[in-house]
Amino acid sequence: MTAPILAARGLSKRFGSRQVIDGVELAVARGEILGIVGPGGAGKTVLLKLLAGLITPDEGTVHAFGHDFAQQGADQRAAIWERFGVLFQNYALFDFMTVGENIGFPLEQRRRGDEVGKGAAALSRSAEIAARVAERLREVDLPGTQHLYPNELSGGMKKRVALARATIADADVLLYDDPTAGLDPVTSSKIFALIERLHPARTGLTIVVSHDIDRMLPVCQRFLLLDKGRIRFEGDRVAAELSTDKMVRTFFDSSARLSDAVPRAAVSP
Ligand SMILES: Nc1ncnc2c1ncn2[C@@H]1O[C@H](COP(=O)(O)OP(=O)(O)O)[C@@H](O)[C@H]1O
Ligand SMILES: [Mg+2]
Repeated sequence: MTAPILAARGLSKRFGSRQVIDGVELAVARGEILGIVGPGGAGKTVLLKLLAGLITPDEGTVHAFGHDFAQQGADQRAAIWERFGVLFQNYALFDFMTVGENIGFPLEQRRRGDEVGKGAAALSRSAEIAARVAERLREVDLPGTQHLYPNELSGGMKKRVALARATIADADVLLYDDPTAGLDPVTSSKIFALIERLHPARTGLTIVVSHDIDRMLPVCQRFLLLDKGRIRFEGDRVAAELSTDKMVRTFFDSSARLSDAVPRAAVSP
C-alpha cells in the first residue's frame, strides 16, 4: 500500500472535562472520497479540524503527506496548508471582497508567497488568476458573477463560491464540513455533484462530513461513522448495510430509516 495522504494515530481531544475525540486511528489513501457521518456532537467537525492541523490534539499524532503536524515549524505548516482546500462553516466568504476576489484569494496568497516580481510578470499573473477564476465560476454554474458581493448571493450560491475557492489552487486534500447544511434538496444535490466533479482525482483526497447520507452514498467510496468521539464503523456502503450494529444500519439504510420512522400502528392492518 502506498503511504497514506493523511494518518491519525491515537488521536484524542478534550474540551474541559469533555472527551470529544477518543482514540481515533485513521489512514486515508490518495484518490478516495471519504464520507464522515455521525450524530450531532459526535466530534465530526473537531476531527476534521484535527486532520487539517487547525487544532492541536491532547494525545496522538496527525501526519499529512508523511509529516507530523506537531513537528513542523510555522513555514512548514504553511507549506502543508497550501496543499489543503477547506470548507468549514466558520471559514465563510470575506464579505468585503467580490466573488472573484474571494475565489482568487488562495492564488493571490500563493503569489505573495512566491514573491513574483513587479511589472509585466505581475500583470500577466493577474490575468492568469482572473482567467482561472472565470473558468472555475463556469464549473460551479455561476458564470460571470465575479463582480457580485457575497451578500448579493443565495445560500446555495455562497456554498458554490466557497467550493470554487476551496478547489481553485489544485489542492491535494479537500475537506468539506457539512457543505449542504441549511440548503434545499435540489441545491444539495448540485453541491454533491460538484464535490464529485471537483475531487482532485489524480493524487488527491476528499473528505466530506455530512448528514446527507442519501447524497453521500453514490459519491463516497468509504465511510466512517463517528459516535461520541470514537470510530464506530469504517467501511464501504455494502459493509454498512450488512452491519449487525443497529446504529450503523440506521445511518446507512434508508429503508431501515423509513421503517424506524413509521409508527407501528400505521403499518398494522
Ligand atoms: N472549541 C470548543 N470548545 C468547547 N467545546 C467544543 C469546542 N468545539 C467543539 N466542542 C464540543 O465538542 C463536541 C463535538 O463537537 P463537533 O465536532 O462540532 O460535533 P459534530 O460536528 O459531530 O456535530 C460537542 O459537544 C461540542 O460542543
Ligand atoms: Mg459539525
